[in-house]
Amino acid sequence: MRSITILCLFLYYSIDCSIAIREYKKEDLFRLREEVREMFQHAYDSYLKYAYPYDELRPLSCDGVDTWGSYSLTLIDALDTLAIMGNYTEFNRVVETVLQKQNFDADINVSVFETNIRIIGGLLSAHLLSHKTGIKLEPGWPCNGPLLRLAEDVAQRLIAAFDTTTGMPYGTINLRSGVPPGETTVTCTAGVGTFIIEFGTLSRLTGDPLYEEVAYNALKALYHHRSPIGLLGNHIDIMTGRWTAQDAGIGGGVDSYFEYLVKGAILLEKPELMSMFREARLAIDKYLKKDDWYVWATMLRGHVTLPVFQSLESYWPGLLSLIGESDTAMRIIHNYHSVWRQYGFTPEVYNLGTGEASSSRESYPLRPELIESIMYLYRETRDPILLQMGEDILRSIQHSARTQCGYATIKDVRDHRKEDRMESFFLSETTKYLYLLFDPDNFIHNPGVRGTVINTPNGECIVDVGGYIFNTEAHPIDPTMLYCCHEAREGINISEIHRIYKILEEEDNIQFLTMIEATAKKNVTKDIESKNETTLNEVTSKNYNITKDNSESKENKIDQNEVLIKTETRTGYVNIDGTERENSKNESSLRDIVKERIISYYNNTNNINSEDEEIHSSIDNKTSGDELDTEAKVEVDDIIIPQKPQDAESLQPPSVTKAKEAYKLLPKVIQDFLNSDWKRKPKCEPQRMLERIRKEKRYPDHPDVNEYKYLLTPAPSFLQRISIAGEFLSKKQLEM
Ligand SMILES: *[C@@H]1O[C@H](CO)[C@@H](O)[C@H](O)[C@H]1NC(C)=O
Ligand SMILES: *[C@@H]1O[C@H](CO)[C@@H](O)[C@H](O)[C@H]1NC(C)=O
Ligand SMILES: *[C@@H]1O[C@H](CO)[C@@H](O)[C@H](O)[C@H]1NC(C)=O
Ligand SMILES: *[C@@H]1O[C@H](CO)[C@@H](O)[C@H](O)[C@H]1NC(C)=O
Ligand SMILES: *[C@@H]1O[C@H](CO)[C@@H](O)[C@H](O)[C@H]1NC(C)=O
Ligand SMILES: *[C@@H]1O[C@H](CO)[C@@H](O)[C@H](O)[C@H]1NC(C)=O
Ligand SMILES: *[C@@H]1O[C@H](CO)[C@@H](O)[C@H](O)[C@H]1NC(C)=O
Ligand SMILES: *[C@@H]1O[C@H](CO)[C@@H](O)[C@H](O)[C@H]1NC(C)=O
Ligand SMILES: *[C@@H]1O[C@H](CO)[C@@H](O)[C@H](O)[C@H]1NC(C)=O
Repeated sequence: MRSITILCLFLYYSIDCSIAIREYKKEDLFRLREEVREMFQHAYDSYLKYAYPYDELRPLSCDGVDTWGSYSLTLIDALDTLAIMGNYTEFNRVVETVLQKQNFDADINVSVFETNIRIIGGLLSAHLLSHKTGIKLEPGWPCNGPLLRLAEDVAQRLIAAFDTTTGMPYGTINLRSGVPPGETTVTCTAGVGTFIIEFGTLSRLTGDPLYEEVAYNALKALYHHRSPIGLLGNHIDIMTGRWTAQDAGIGGGVDSYFEYLVKGAILLEKPELMSMFREARLAIDKYLKKDDWYVWATMLRGHVTLPVFQSLESYWPGLLSLIGESDTAMRIIHNYHSVWRQYGFTPEVYNLGTGEASSSRESYPLRPELIESIMYLYRETRDPILLQMGEDILRSIQHSARTQCGYATIKDVRDHRKEDRMESFFLSETTKYLYLLFDPDNFIHNPGVRGTVINTPNGECIVDVGGYIFNTEAHPIDPTMLYCCHEAREGINISEIHRIYKILEEEDNIQFLTMIEATAKKNVTKDIESKNETTLNEVTSKNYNITKDNSESKENKIDQNEVLIKTETRTGYVNIDGTERENSKNESSLRDIVKERIISYYNNTNNINSEDEEIHSSIDNKTSGDELDTEAKVEVDDIIIPQKPQDAESLQPPSVTKAKEAYKLLPKVIQDFLNSDWKRKPKCEPQRMLERIRKEKRYPDHPDVNEYKYLLTPAPSFLQRISIAGEFLSKKQLEM
């Protein structure tokens, strides 16, 4: 059997001997899968033993080292692999560990790109998977939760990088102080165009449109700067929009831009992103594709500059399978696999002219891209040759990369020398894709036949029906959850709102009706705003005690503080010229408080009446003095406060007609309220930036914005079931 297989592998490029390809029985797959699990466990345990809390394990010297940011990178990056492999106890333990971190405040310069895909991606994915592992979920999950808040904290630290003339981000940021002084304005294409999955997810889950719009704007900026023949270069100046490296290709420096166009289109249901990809694809196929290889060419004329294959390009066949082009993808992957077989690994750069690894680019840092494509294609075609390729990869890594304490980068694929590095993507991607290849029944592969019903503030929704979208660091995102939270904020359930309203009124004496009336007649707003500051003070402090009504413990207090402090983390940015920007004031508004109020209401509907006087008074203390001053300066916008608070008690319940009128207004009012709330206050820098982006409208919308048919192009079967990208399924729909 073995010799036949080998013979066959030598021949299968010229002769069709797929019949002789080794057969994989269920037991074989199981055995391979368990071997991958052991591989992961060996590397992971070694990381914990020798390297944690450093970023990465050094597999030869058996110690740890900080590489991308001294934030225990490997731990966070590997987290969801634990869930996918079913090690829930360890997953939960690590979540606890990660959550000991309140935020990512640190004086370190980090790569915006890497921090986004590894840290934000890892946290978001763990947040969304945590319902499977028996971890205690916060009310409001998946639209709420501590891992989500941590991910948002990181995103808030990265967002200042996008504050540039073109809207394309800087490559580096200091987690504490923003863009470092003197930072280069040149960023690679992938460093500009690889945010929409994580940032889109964040926006859809939290309701804050900032992230998605900023990421989307950066994508449009790249598209806008494409060459007349439709190609993109490798590096661009984010201030001038001038290309500083004009080689066009699909590999290093560009790769995940294309990946995110496709995946972003599917995940967020944005057909125009798919159109941008299709247009790019035409140019790529015309100028870069040579016999099922892709080369590099000048972006202006399409003249070939580098006839090479890069290891990083191996993601491309997997991407093609996502848009239903598995036949082309299979041809390409045979090419790529032939390089793997030549060396037992793919070198970083392979010269197609000489048929050899390029000197000085001959390493293999345990990259996942080839196995990633193999997994996608196997899922789509079930061609056993792909399992064979996967097993090849497993064998090579086991044979040449394994060390006593982990797995090592191959320094030179020609002699398999090792190097003292194990990048975190070995645990987050390489082992995960291998495992998923050999585990066809994994929940990740669910073709839409099962689902989990969860309760959200907006009612029930169905999640975990498959169609997971992997970010470029292999962190899976469940699209249904995005729609679940998105829906929750788009469609307001009026009877639910009625309940909120009643609670608010009963408990707080906030005159919600007054708010409604005032919002209906916008003129009133101005009157109130010009009113005496003392009035505002009184009301603000009043609402302060209210905010904490629900608190049963000190934890809640901390929670509230976090909300307040959160806005502070947005300050401290540095101007383009390196000077410190003026710190914005402490910001918090009635709106925050009411929002919190609504959340806490959902948090514990039963305990609404168990108010705690002690907490009241302690908070009263807190809101006195200086703090009150800053509170008073907060703009109240369209949330209207009763002009004379003392009148509140004497107000009569509204008459029937009045109540009816109020009901008519409620949805709009609540909608405005929630929308404006989640958009946050205009005072903080990111919000200003967002407003500027909106106002400038620098890049026109792609004409295909509403061409949803482009999302229905022959997608692979595993995506079709959720009618592309996890629409919001009601229980009724599922029953039908
Ligand atoms: C889960 O991971 C921990 C830590 O690596 C390990 O000790 C344990 O054996 C794993 N459990 C399973 C079921 O794999
Ligand atoms: C971050 O980069 C800036 C500019 O290069 C440098 O001045 C600063 O010392 C760096 N900070 C750290 C913590 O490395
Ligand atoms: C709105 O909420 C109420 C009460 O919570 C619930 O009974 C009703 O089914 C919901 N309506 C919709 C359309 O979800
Ligand atoms: C608002 O004020 C403007 C001018 O002050 C006035 O013309 C308009 O009628 C007012 N609208 C309402 C609804 O009171
Ligand atoms: C503001 O309130 C203070 C104290 O209640 C009062 O003395 C003052 O006249 C008020 N100013 C205005 C403009 O209403
Ligand atoms: C809230 O605090 C204010 C100012 O400290 C106080 O006057 C008021 O009585 C408090 N309200 C409640 C309901 O405790
Ligand atoms: C903001 O308020 C917090 C307390 O809530 C305080 O510790 C902090 O110093 C304030 N920051 C500024 C910039 O005023
Ligand atoms: C919700 O409840 C959890 C625990 O029950 C608590 O930790 C959290 O602070 C609460 N959140 C809010 C906003 O009240
Ligand atoms: C509030 O402050 C007063 C005096 O400043 C103090 O006596 C009281 O104990 C404080 N209350 C709480 C709950 O901290």
